[in-house]
Amino acid sequence: DKGGWSSFMAKEISEEPEAVANTLRGRIRDGEVVIPELDGLDDLFAGISRIIVIACGTAAYAGQVGKYAIEQWTRIPVDVELAHEFRYRDPVIGPDTLVVSISQSGETMDTLMAVKYAREHGARTLSICNTQGATIPRESDAIVYTHAGPEVAVASTKAFVAQVTALYLMALHVGRVRGTVSAADAAAHVAELEAIPAKISQILEREQPRIEQFAHWMADTRSVLFLGRHVGYPIALEGALKLKELAYIHAEGFAAGELKHGPIALIEPGQPVFVIVPSPSKSGEMHKKVVSSIEEIRARGARVIAVAEEGDAAVLPKADEVLRIPLAGPFFEPLLAVVPLHIFAMGLATAKGLDVDQPRNLAKSVTVE
Ligand code: BG6
Repeated sequence: DKGGWSSFMAKEISEEPEAVANTLRGRIRDGEVVIPELDGLDDLFAGISRIIVIACGTAAYAGQVGKYAIEQWTRIPVDVELAHEFRYRDPVIGPDTLVVSISQSGETMDTLMAVKYAREHGARTLSICNTQGATIPRESDAIVYTHAGPEVAVASTKAFVAQVTALYLMALHVGRVRGTVSAADAAAHVAELEAIPAKISQILEREQPRIEQFAHWMADTRSVLFLGRHVGYPIALEGALKLKELAYIHAEGFAAGELKHGPIALIEPGQPVFVIVPSPSKSGEMHKKVVSSIEEIRARGARVIAVAEEGDAAVLPKADEVLRIPLAGPFFEPLLAVVPLHIFAMGLATAKGLDVDQPRNLAKSVTVE
């Protein structure tokens, strides 16, 4: 039931705040992360020296976002791999490896086969999944469910923010178990997470109509580029994927630092480029670096659409369009910056008259390898 919305996707984007809130619910007590599903499983995290995150599509981008926080908070090295690539290259894994799979459906065959492979080769496995009782969690040593609620639109939106939230909860839990995160730091990160739902709601209320209008104007666009740095990089990749999936437009995401090593050759007058701008106050040097990337592409005629923090005055004169997100701590911005990109992709597909819930050639859950 679309509940009065024009599409499941419109409904599911509107549910992004509650997807995060529901994933947090019951898992925070007095500023500490408490994950009942992981009770008694401390040994799972005690003996590991590396984490490999495996997933496909949007779930893999959630994993890429999670990598930064997991490494920072647990000091365990993290690799993120596409499940189908992991499975077929004789990966070096063993009992010191925790393989974290992420899957909305819990049935994606590529991911399932990779989890089975990991288990057979002695790795420990943890599943982040949105569907109770699905196959992948049943094949795993531990489960952390996302509580995004059922996702019907084929392209994933609300599950993504729930997956990032679950990864952060898991990272904080592991960091506390291993003593790499202090109680005070954990409480500060938890407070950031708890503030996310209201901040997403703010984006939906204040920016959604403007972004949809803007997407309408862009309906004839044939190619869109996305740039991001650090946690903004996987968000750029997700923005591009969503546009491919929903609007059938050529779209690519790049690491902003990579621009001069190739992608800048693509910039010609009028080329739309979304740039995920990190917080000027919280990201230190990175903000300056991204602003200088904007200057470089603008000098070559790019049409710059910046996703930037409300208080970021430096970006305003340099961008053709600024999509505003509220202030958040460094690791938490992706949970906000992705929202305008989801709205934009849906808006552009809608402007082209496409079915945003059932894009051509795609299936919600791909149960073949
Ligand atoms: C694709 C879906 O087929 O599978 C994507 O179209 C999704 O939206 C990907 O991100 C992975 O699916 P799941 O269920 O494993 O998260």
